[in-house]
Amino acid sequence: MAVRESVEIDLDRVDRLIQEQEAELEPRHRASIEYRKNAELHVAGGVASSWQDAPPHAIFIDRGDGSRIWDIDGNEYIDYHLGYGAMVVGHAHPAIVEAIQRQASRGTHFAQPTRDLDVIGENLADRFSLPLWRFCNSGTEATLEAARLMRAKTGRDRLIKIEGTYHGHHDSLMFSVIPDPELMGPREHPVTVPQAPGIPQAFADLVRVVPFNDLAAARQAFEERPGEVAGMIVEPAMMNCGVVLPEPGYLQGLADLCHEFGAYLAFDEVKTGAALAYGGAVEAFGVVPDIVCLAKAMGGGTPCGAIGATEELFALVVGGEYDMAGTFNGNPLTMAATRATLTRVLTRDAYPALDRLHGLLHERLSAVIERHRLPAYVTGLGAKGSVIYSPTPVREYRDALGIDERITYLAWLFQQNGGVFKSPWSKQETWTLSVAHTDGDVQRYVENFETFARAVTT
Ligand SMILES: Cc1ncc(COP(=O)(O)O)c(C=O)c1O
Repeated sequence: MAVRESVEIDLDRVDRLIQEQEAELEPRHRASIEYRKNAELHVAGGVASSWQDAPPHAIFIDRGDGSRIWDIDGNEYIDYHLGYGAMVVGHAHPAIVEAIQRQASRGTHFAQPTRDLDVIGENLADRFSLPLWRFCNSGTEATLEAARLMRAKTGRDRLIKIEGTYHGHHDSLMFSVIPDPELMGPREHPVTVPQAPGIPQAFADLVRVVPFNDLAAARQAFEERPGEVAGMIVEPAMMNCGVVLPEPGYLQGLADLCHEFGAYLAFDEVKTGAALAYGGAVEAFGVVPDIVCLAKAMGGGTPCGAIGATEELFALVVGGEYDMAGTFNGNPLTMAATRATLTRVLTRDAYPALDRLHGLLHERLSAVIERHRLPAYVTGLGAKGSVIYSPTPVREYRDALGIDERITYLAWLFQQNGGVFKSPWSKQETWTLSVAHTDGDVQRYVENFETFARAVTT
């Protein structure tokens, strides 16, 4: 990244612009605001998931088609939220619709294996270079199984995770996701901060948190507890503070370190798998871990999840000592959509087009940043990317702490008002691209970004 002089953003002006942008948005969301009031009567908070509610208010969606969605007020948006990155296939893709409809007419659930399994298993083995797979219903379930499998195989209880990453909402790993700076302790030895009330301290005591992109810190964590660490889980490219890519050698270094200490390495590819590249981070960064956790993009918009691992690790499951189970695991609708996604939509041929669009966004957004001398830069890979509002590269969670969330919120508001839907809580401007996005869709994003850049700098 070229070092250049950037302007300082005036936060009073940002506050004023937020008020203006919110005032412009509110009348356009009357139906959403009203609907929520009714929903609130019998649905806690009026939304299905806490992360569907973010300032300025929850926005209820009516339908989607290709790269577009429409809210219940009738506003049309180009969708860069894509269901928190799950819809890399785009909305209502004909191949996915056809697969789901065909299966729905033949039965939606049996809790018995169906005939999509072999094709999906083979496809995932090819993509992620791990021989064996099992299926579940979410990213949370996939990482829960990964944590348990590493513990089961080693007979050890301790885990290592990265500060500032999210692996789902189970008690084994929901620590230091967005830790309160007051509680997070020194960088040399971060405190493991529970991300929600109700998580027992006993679980926190088993998890050591380390900064991303720092092999020495990971080594120190292993050396503190020789023979006690079952494994380490890492999001191979961090997606929670913008997209933070691994530095060369970091992921292979982690794999070697885990093995040196008799532990396992799990990649949480819930966001990166089938999104960064055909073979996710495994292919993009050329490192094969012991476990890969998948969800989101693989299922073409159905509730999905998968865990891939070595034969050695899966021996416990195959041998019947470890029941990796769930009523809806391998649900026929999910499997039909997953098969269509993997073999008909997100094939190898899909990725050069995603890379090209990413390149276009990257280049044009960087030009806007340059023109307006914003303290920011563009980062990402394949279908995922972000603008990071920092003049210097963010290598780990703590580097992003100085970024004022009002700036990212304002950027989000300008996109909303300009007809682009980005993830709520999009604190660091992360976007997802789909196979349905076009050059025109990219241009809309860039134009909104330029309007924002002009407004904050002049
Ligand atoms: C990296 C990562 N892992 C796990 C999860 C949890 O997945 P799910 O929401 O499907 O349970 C998420 C969700 O956003 C995620 O980003």
